[in-house]
Amino acid sequence: QMEQRDKWATKIGLILAMAGNAIGLGNFVRFPTQVAGNGGGAFMVPYFLALFLLGIPVMWVEWVQGRYGGKYGHGTLGPTFYLMARESLKPRSALIFGLIGGALAFATTTLLNSYYLHLIGWSAAYSWFSISGAYFNVESTAKFFESYLSNHGLVFLFWGITVVLLAIAVGQGVSKGIERWVKVMMPLLYVFAVILVIYVFALGSPLGQPQWSTIKGFEFIWSPNWTYLKEHLWSVMLAASGQIFFTLSLGMGIIQNYASYLGPKDDVALSGLATVSLNEFAEVVLGGSIAVPLAVAYAPKIVPPEVLAKGSNAALQWISENFGLGFSYTSLPNIFVQMGTAGRFFGALWFLLLWFAGFTSAIAMYNYLTALLEEDLGISRKTGTWIVFIIYFLLGIPVVYINGYLDQVDAWISFQLALLALFDIIVGVWLFKPDNFWKELHEGALINVPEFYKWITVIIAPIFIALPLFGTFTDLVSKTLGWPAKIAIIAMLIIGAIEAYYAIKKKYGEELEKNEVI
Ligand code: PHE
Ligand code: NA
Repeated sequence: QMEQRDKWATKIGLILAMAGNAIGLGNFVRFPTQVAGNGGGAFMVPYFLALFLLGIPVMWVEWVQGRYGGKYGHGTLGPTFYLMARESLKPRSALIFGLIGGALAFATTTLLNSYYLHLIGWSAAYSWFSISGAYFNVESTAKFFESYLSNHGLVFLFWGITVVLLAIAVGQGVSKGIERWVKVMMPLLYVFAVILVIYVFALGSPLGQPQWSTIKGFEFIWSPNWTYLKEHLWSVMLAASGQIFFTLSLGMGIIQNYASYLGPKDDVALSGLATVSLNEFAEVVLGGSIAVPLAVAYAPKIVPPEVLAKGSNAALQWISENFGLGFSYTSLPNIFVQMGTAGRFFGALWFLLLWFAGFTSAIAMYNYLTALLEEDLGISRKTGTWIVFIIYFLLGIPVVYINGYLDQVDAWISFQLALLALFDIIVGVWLFKPDNFWKELHEGALINVPEFYKWITVIIAPIFIALPLFGTFTDLVSKTLGWPAKIAIIAMLIIGAIEAYYAIKKKYGEELEKNEVI
């Protein structure tokens, strides 16, 4: 007899946890980067297309999968995929899909989080550097960032503070740990973001030069560049769907994991939609209104003088090309310095916002691995959280010591998210059977999903996901990935598959022994 599985205690707790899962650095850093670098406002056309044709349907598929697996005591993808594939296949063939799901989800929750945790650690450090004024009197904030990164003791200190807190939260369990933490952190996150947005707009043209204002920055990201979209249609579509998967936490296994703590008759249709809406508000409205408008308002202070001399278009071009992850830690601090004492406060608020956003996402990956140890391997949650700590520590070493490793693994992950999303549909809709999927989606549902969404999910979404996948794979393997990244990826995929095999075998070994095929 199985002991009772943990469950979300309250509806609001569940929704905030799911929103926390989705809302992350993707909203505040990755999204503005993608918009600025892909045709500005024109990017939003493929973006919304991907949201409605991929994001929302895959979100529903993952909620259905998670609740279904949870009914049988599973919060990991190996056994869940196995059970769903069993609807159409004999055990031996279903096993293959279980291994694929388990391998991909394990690789994401280990590798993606291994560098994501470092980025969150940087944010923790920079909250501290802002409030203490550490970078306020330096010659260059970019050099300051470099020297921070080369101080590995300091990097691991802030990483450690973050991950110990994660371990504590996850160790307390789902309803008594994660749910309580997000109930405090998520409302604060929205408050921080709203304060920053209001402040950014109130700044106007802080340098007293009307051509550089936060409104100009806002216009810059939102004015549609149709020629760019036409000329780069394929790559922009790829970027848009990649952003949708990343920002909604799809193709990772963590939406399923959170949904596995639902009761069998708890709503998934409206809750899935609520998760998407909360994330999109935090992305399109809040995420687009802080960093880029700030950068444009202070352009003369961050754009190199020789570029600035060529005029404002060249300066905007420079911002869109240089706006990236590092930008948050190199150029934005420079802007906070310009604000004087207020900059200490608003700088700290910005990095604390990133820290909260990252923390409440990372917690989901942390819980996936903890659940895996707990349910599949019988290791207690408390012990499990510290094993996960060690796993992340070890996987963080190449992130800190090998140049380029972070970006390479990140490039692979973007590909892998789409791949797992495709298998979500193959297993959770095709093999599970579209009618079963539709019935499950409406079990306990608080809304009725229009029938045409069934066909979007069955046919349109998988085509949209599959088309670009093959083109990118060869480039990734032949051009992008170095050996350390390749070794880490292959190792995590293999360990994930072995783990899934063990988990499935342990529980469903008898039917697998029967030797039936197909
Ligand atoms: N949805 C998250 C984001 O926008 C992605 C993520 C989730 C990354 C969990 C890491 C861990 O940032
Ligand atoms: Na997000």
